[in-house]
Amino acid sequence: MRFGHFDDDRREYVIDTPTTPYPWINYLGSESFFGLISNTAGGYCFYRDARFRRLTRYRYNNVPVDEGGRYFYIKDGSDTWTPSFRPMKKALDRYECRHGMGYTKIASSRGGVGVESLFFVPLGHRCEVHQVTVKNESAGPKSVKLFSFVEFCLWNALDDQTNFQRNFNTGEVEVEGSTIYHVTEYRERRDHYAFYHVNAPLAGFDTDRHSFLGLYNSFGEAQVPLSGEPRNTMASGWHPIASHCLQVDLAPGESKTYVFVLGYADNPVAQSSSRPMGAEKWSAPGVVNKAPAKALIEAFSTPAQVAEAMGQLKANWDRLLGQYTIRSGDPKLDRMVNIWNQYQCMVTFNMSRSASYFESGIGRGMGFRDSNQDLLGFVHMVPERARERIIDIASTQFEDGGAYHQYQPLTKRGNNDVGSGFNDDPLWLILGVGAYLRETGDFAILDASVPFNNDENNKASLLEHLDRSFNHVPNNIGPNGLPLIGRADWNDCLNLNCFSETPDESFQTTGNRTGRTAESTFIAGLFVVAGKEYASILDKLGKADRAAEVRRWVAEMTVRTEDKGWDGQWFRRAYDFFGEPIGSQQCDEGKIFIEPQGMCIMGGIGIESGKAKLALDSVKEHLDTKYGIVLLWPAYTKYLVKMGEITSYPPGYKENAGIFCHNNPWVMIAETELGRADRAWDYYSKIAPAYLEDISDVHRVEPYVYAQMIAGKDAVNHGEAKNSWLTGTAAYNYVAVTQHILGIRAELDGLRIKPCLPSKFSTVQATRKLRDATFEITIKNSASGRYRLTVDGQAIDGVVVPYPAAGKTVHVVCEC
Ligand code: BGC
Ligand code: NOJ
Repeated sequence: MRFGHFDDDRREYVIDTPTTPYPWINYLGSESFFGLISNTAGGYCFYRDARFRRLTRYRYNNVPVDEGGRYFYIKDGSDTWTPSFRPMKKALDRYECRHGMGYTKIASSRGGVGVESLFFVPLGHRCEVHQVTVKNESAGPKSVKLFSFVEFCLWNALDDQTNFQRNFNTGEVEVEGSTIYHVTEYRERRDHYAFYHVNAPLAGFDTDRHSFLGLYNSFGEAQVPLSGEPRNTMASGWHPIASHCLQVDLAPGESKTYVFVLGYADNPVAQSSSRPMGAEKWSAPGVVNKAPAKALIEAFSTPAQVAEAMGQLKANWDRLLGQYTIRSGDPKLDRMVNIWNQYQCMVTFNMSRSASYFESGIGRGMGFRDSNQDLLGFVHMVPERARERIIDIASTQFEDGGAYHQYQPLTKRGNNDVGSGFNDDPLWLILGVGAYLRETGDFAILDASVPFNNDENNKASLLEHLDRSFNHVPNNIGPNGLPLIGRADWNDCLNLNCFSETPDESFQTTGNRTGRTAESTFIAGLFVVAGKEYASILDKLGKADRAAEVRRWVAEMTVRTEDKGWDGQWFRRAYDFFGEPIGSQQCDEGKIFIEPQGMCIMGGIGIESGKAKLALDSVKEHLDTKYGIVLLWPAYTKYLVKMGEITSYPPGYKENAGIFCHNNPWVMIAETELGRADRAWDYYSKIAPAYLEDISDVHRVEPYVYAQMIAGKDAVNHGEAKNSWLTGTAAYNYVAVTQHILGIRAELDGLRIKPCLPSKFSTVQATRKLRDATFEITIKNSASGRYRLTVDGQAIDGVVVPYPAAGKTVHVVCEC
């Protein structure tokens, strides 16, 4: 069953019911100010950090779901209703929500009044703009009241749930004209505040939540809009809100448009005497300097300014998405590749795993592993930002090559609570940097001087960081000659050095066993993938000796993996604390795992010996389901203290045999390494969201973005997805489909064009822009497994088209 449709021309998903199987959300903003918005206008916004700079309150994990947002209420005679359906849930004569690239539009009507709301974050500004058009669709005149509503919480979002006895006393607001200022804590250490403004005179306002709602009422029973009478309340402590009341009088057919600005303003205390104008904290003793807020208000005081900003937003997305586009004849593939997969990559790059409808914005910072992987799907859009991110990530690395598992976005410091010891982490840095170099050719980044553990007095070149990343594996080898796993590898829940028997402790960080026996074949595969990438970088730098050493290690690890990492029909997953194999025929449960089959073969391990083929056929036989490939089989039915969190989940969920959409693409890539296009495609189309639109009732989350997990075959709700949006799934599926199935991949020396497409795709056109050049590519596919390329009509050897001079366009035909 569907709950909407794709509008590809406008790059929108159009939702036609407010009661989707789960809130279907969108993200506003892609620079420093962000909003999350559901199809019923739920959600919140923040500046840079969802914990420390959250402007509006949101109630996670609540009843009903999705409580809190930017709500508008219409009071039309005796009828009060909310155009976004929630919170009042009054029946609407018409409803449509369009989630687009960085904006959301909700249009509805009731009783002859139509309301269209547009929500977006304008480029270069720290605010959400809400443009609301109220139209009289009836035959007679209409006199209605429009109430806005947001609830402020510009303080530590964790305190908001744990230390609210404090916040109940600190709330302060000011009202000036049509602007409501939230100045809580500004009197002391904050140099920033929030405000909500509308470009029209007010019929009244409210700033105190209890007065607006009524103490025992929900958002859907708000007494001010129900009565139609604003109370002009001034919050003092408790719960500051901002609600404007506008009197809207409309002749038949007439409409009026209002522009609301929900903004963040700061007056940073400048270090030098040459402070910029308006940068003073106070404009007079005790009077908040409102100049930056007023500048923002000025910038969005008319619909024409809004239209211009929307034009800029669209132009920006045209440019971002224009780096890699295809025309394949399959609209679902086109919309994934050209629009939604890229869009999700931008969101994961911005958010890492912090703020979604499944991540609270409080718990997790930026992951070292995650952020490097996100780069793989993002680097082609804004390489300059990828560069910055690489330096931030590398700055949290330790001298021995290990790394903090996470760091905080605001401070960029490593997170001590989680610490380090996830032994795959360092290798992802090589892949992140490798992707950046292949995209840009900017080798100068390797000379950048980058701190260890953010210590400015202890720095080394980025190249040295990569070297230490690589060496971290040879320096941490276990009894079978394979890499030690540490606290966990990619699979956070495979905790082989933590025997946790106490429910209140973390599976990852309780270091009660710090053995040097547990090994990971997944890290072995990743080491080979990263080692090959690193060696090719060293070649380019003319460092032949080091490149040869790296290749010797790669060859050695390949041999070890085929030997000690092989189980007969597939690659083993690991060796545990006692040296026993995991992911082996010998095991009662968890006999085969997906990760090493994908990653080892991505590294080329077992391709010549035929082991790769055996392993992938085993994946097909034991792990494939109608909704994707499960992580392991058979699912663990008992908690095993020596295995950790993975066995804590009921069978079929999460890492315990769920369909972890993130490592499905590794198998797709592995299948393309064997040239098996139909298999790779089958796996791709099973989990790519656009192909799941028709089963939205089963899948439940948004059909335009990937979810982290789909419940596996052992689960009660097989096929039901959870944790949409913020997942490495976005980047890796993007890599799989664009670089391996479509086969267009930036290499250090040129653009490799080596598609592995099923024969039903007979002609695919692609445009790829990079390094200031444009490749216009025609793939003529008969799935022959042989490749013949011409560049501007001239045949070339091999499948790598050299980069042309900047500014040039080349036409490539690939017959395969
Ligand atoms: C989840 C993992 C996640 C980890 C992060 C676990 O509970 O299952 O997917 O990576 O927490 O700490
Ligand atoms: C989610 C984490 O963010 C990611 O880093 C990890 O690889 C997967 N879970 C699998 O455990």
